[in-house]
Amino acid sequence: MWAMGRMVGADSRRAGQRRITSVILLAMTDRPPVADWATDFDHTHADYAASAPEIWEDLRERCPVAHTDRFGGCWFPVDHDDVSQIAKDTQHFTSESIIVSDHKPQGLRPKGFAPPITSDPPFHADARRILLPAFAPKAVDRWRDDTRSICHELIDDLLASGDDPVDAAIGYTRHIPVRVIAKMLGLPESDGDKFREFIRRILEEPGQNPVTDPEETLFFYLSQAVASHRAEPKDDLIGFLLEQELGGAPLTDDHIGGTIGLILIAGIDTTWSALGASLWHLAQTPEHRQQLVDEPDLMPVAVEEFLRYYAPVSMARIVAEDVEVGDVLMKAGDWTLLPFPAANRDPKAFENPHDVILDREHNRHLAFGLGIHRCVGSNLARMEMNVALEVWMERIPDFELDTSQTVRWSTGQVRGPRELPLHLLRSS
Ligand code: HEM
Repeated sequence: MWAMGRMVGADSRRAGQRRITSVILLAMTDRPPVADWATDFDHTHADYAASAPEIWEDLRERCPVAHTDRFGGCWFPVDHDDVSQIAKDTQHFTSESIIVSDHKPQGLRPKGFAPPITSDPPFHADARRILLPAFAPKAVDRWRDDTRSICHELIDDLLASGDDPVDAAIGYTRHIPVRVIAKMLGLPESDGDKFREFIRRILEEPGQNPVTDPEETLFFYLSQAVASHRAEPKDDLIGFLLEQELGGAPLTDDHIGGTIGLILIAGIDTTWSALGASLWHLAQTPEHRQQLVDEPDLMPVAVEEFLRYYAPVSMARIVAEDVEVGDVLMKAGDWTLLPFPAANRDPKAFENPHDVILDREHNRHLAFGLGIHRCVGSNLARMEMNVALEVWMERIPDFELDTSQTVRWSTGQVRGPRELPLHLLRSS
């Protein structure tokens, strides 16, 4: 398998120029091997997780809109213009489902099961408006001190463990968004493992291993959370949603459950992945660690570059009406992925797209999407990333990747390192 572990900048570019077939990739899952990424891609395959950036560059040269018959037929455009065209076009594309799987939903338009991300216009605007106040810059700032305390507490534990290497994915990045979101929603922070398991099933194995016990489902967990908040009203985000109205009527339990599920899933795996990728990069790039130590005020700009280069999220649409994208005709009923991470490395949109430039000046990246579904939680994600990286660099300014282990990147539509073995060279 092509190890992602050490590939940055020029190495990754060179690798991208090679033709990628499953012949040279070692399959790590029981998904059927991919014959050719241009005609048979599978983003849920471990080989994709391991080598996605090289696959995007290969496809950019050969397609640039790839296709697979898997999942009942799905497109995969890699160019910035094509991805933008689809994200902005709510007439030819529906958000009825945004996770590609073997099962295509039907009859859920315009609301979908997780409003607003699965909603289409005009319903979408109302469902989105309800959420905006909770994620406005001032509202998010209320959680800054809590986030900082969580980060310090986690680093205290990492250092106290005396382990070498430490696993920063297990001990740091995966806890921060879970604990912040749990606080916002008014759910127990100790349910973190449950949340991560729901997310793993939904994003990494979409539709592949259905849970048989209904009480083990996210749906059941959310129904219980809504019921307990109804029985005992609380001043938190679930309490806030319970008080909201749409079209003159209170939100239904279905709507509230769907939105909380969305916030849990959209808010955890995404930030965890972006943070992990940023530390993974810094662990292999001493000059960038030094740059952030010398110029701590650079962090917000550096975070934008990490978001561009390591954008974790690809979303999906279902084609609602036949439409041309690039040089292909997408037919009603097809899936299409929106790989924002691939668009972020398009040389037609960014200068030197394969270099991580911490003080990059022009950086209108698509990590948070674009169009009507642009990320509602971007202020929160940015705050968490800035605080988590600031605290890490204050406490552990020097560290490096343990290259004796392979770093596994998550499969599916949210991509980030799930293990991060680091040697801590200087810490306090
Ligand atoms: C680095 C972290 C994050 C990234 C990269 C990210 C990325 C994205 C992207 C690409 C979309 C567009 C989806 C589409 O076009 O279908 C989106 C939508 C959304 N995100 Fe995020 N997200 C992040 C963090 C968060 C957080 C922390 C929250 C909230 C807790 C959140 C909540 C949402 C919601 C509610 C939507 C749906 C917006 C709508 O449909 O109008 N996200 N996100």
